[in-house]
Amino acid sequence: MTPAPAPPPERPAHSGLRARLRALPVFATAIPRFDPDAAPDDPVELFASWLDHAVAAGVAEPHVVNLATVDAEGRPSSRFLLLKDVDADGWRFASTSAGPKGAELAANPHAALAFYWSRVARQVRVRGTVAPEDPRRCAADFLARSPAARAEALAGGQSTPVASRAELAEATAAARARVAADPGLVDPHWTLYTLRPEYVEFWQADRDRAHIRLRYTAATGGGWTRSLLRP
Ligand SMILES: Cc1cc2nc3c(=O)[nH]c(=O)nc-3n(C[C@H](O)[C@H](O)[C@H](O)COP(=O)(O)O)c2cc1C
Repeated sequence: MTPAPAPPPERPAHSGLRARLRALPVFATAIPRFDPDAAPDDPVELFASWLDHAVAAGVAEPHVVNLATVDAEGRPSSRFLLLKDVDADGWRFASTSAGPKGAELAANPHAALAFYWSRVARQVRVRGTVAPEDPRRCAADFLARSPAARAEALAGGQSTPVASRAELAEATAAARARVAADPGLVDPHWTLYTLRPEYVEFWQADRDRAHIRLRYTAATGGGWTRSLLRP
């Protein structure tokens, strides 16, 4: 047997960070049972039951989801958002269309979502195309937000640099005054987006890394095909 090649010299560790990272546990939780053979035909049904299970298990903020988008040149960005709804049409989230993610989704509607619920060692990944909902549904989502959240959106300019905290505070105060004067005011850029899934993957960790992965792929004529994936 040929001996394994010597590894390249490691860069100096940053104050022992490498060792501390490697010492951190993962999947050190009571891992729930997942029998992919008993999974429902519809991934939305399975997602709803996994979400309810996560809530019951005390997973913190299980509705926080990572959204990955790509710009017109194919460069990716990702950020966390709140999941607003899931139904037969897809996974919904809300944001301004006037910021970077809105521009990216307008240029390229392909996107992916990823949830990780560490307390139950489960991951759900969804990939598909994103479209804005009807403006009336966007307005209803906007008006369901708190006055402070509405004001922040109305202040605009999300993700653009600001000269100072004072300038920011001034803009927030002005926007809050607008909301107080007109509680029905709707930000025309506020958008409820729906990611229509091409595939949905349910991933259950195994401590010995024999993870269980079940992927639902949207079939051309409607319905879903299911496949198990290697861990
Ligand atoms: C837990 C959490 C929830 C968030 N929820 C939202 C949300 O629902 N909508 C939103 O636009 N931004 C939300 N944000 C802020 C985004 O992560 C991001 O900073 C912002 O949308 C700007 O993204 P962009 O520059 O890629 O457009 C949230 C951030 C965190 C950490």
